[in-house]
Amino acid sequence: QARQFFVGGNFKMNGSKESIQTIVKNLNSASLPSNVEVVIAPPAPYLFWASEHNKQSTVEISAQNCFDKASGAYTGEISAVSLKDLGIPWVILGHSERRTIFKETDELIASKTKFALDSGLKVILCIGETLEEKKAGKTLEVCKRQLKAVTDVVSDWTNIVIAYEPVWAIGTGLAATAEDAQEIHKDIREYLSTVIGSQSESVRILYGGSVSGKNAKDFKDKTDVDGFLVGGASLKPEFVDIIKSRE
Ligand code: G3H
Repeated sequence: QARQFFVGGNFKMNGSKESIQTIVKNLNSASLPSNVEVVIAPPAPYLFWASEHNKQSTVEISAQNCFDKASGAYTGEISAVSLKDLGIPWVILGHSERRTIFKETDELIASKTKFALDSGLKVILCIGETLEEKKAGKTLEVCKRQLKAVTDVVSDWTNIVIAYEPVWAIGTGLAATAEDAQEIHKDIREYLSTVIGSQSESVRILYGGSVSGKNAKDFKDKTDVDGFLVGGASLKPEFVDIIKSRE
């Protein structure tokens, strides 16, 4: 079954009006493959700015977080309903930086995922183990636990893209090998199929963690690697090479 190749760019808390405009203009002027879905996630204050400058029909905008309530006394939080209202179609949830720095639990992430989907957003759901967990041989166990929290509350996975991001590979320059990524992606899909059945065949599973213009091509023939979630390199012109890595 064909799953459309997907490349996400998570800018994290980086950028200015000028630099984000430069990134978006660079994408506008690139001849991007029409069969690759591209989603960029600028910091919240620049969502509308990025969206206003984007002229590529295959590029969509994502938030990096949102809350599990529509409105109310939640100072500093971002509503999924506001994102929808602004025409922002995507949100990243469960990123390891949210899990570790901001102490988000599996249950909160699951609740946010459900609320975002119910609000009409599409979700890039991040999972992945720490170095400690990897060393303890717990990679799959951790991924299953993080996914189970979501399968417990969400049955329709049409609008979810999973990003497998081993924490030890994020921002370290040390990406997982394509072979290792393929193996865990396959395991993740197998696990998912035991819970959501054949739907799992159409769920995209992205790899994230030190993906670059150089190493993206290594993953080309890996059948369960359906794209990438890119951090650092999404701020640079090489992001275009990653988008084109399947050509
Ligand atoms: O969301 C993106 C990931 O955290 C990967 O970041 O490409 O800078 O390693 P990185």
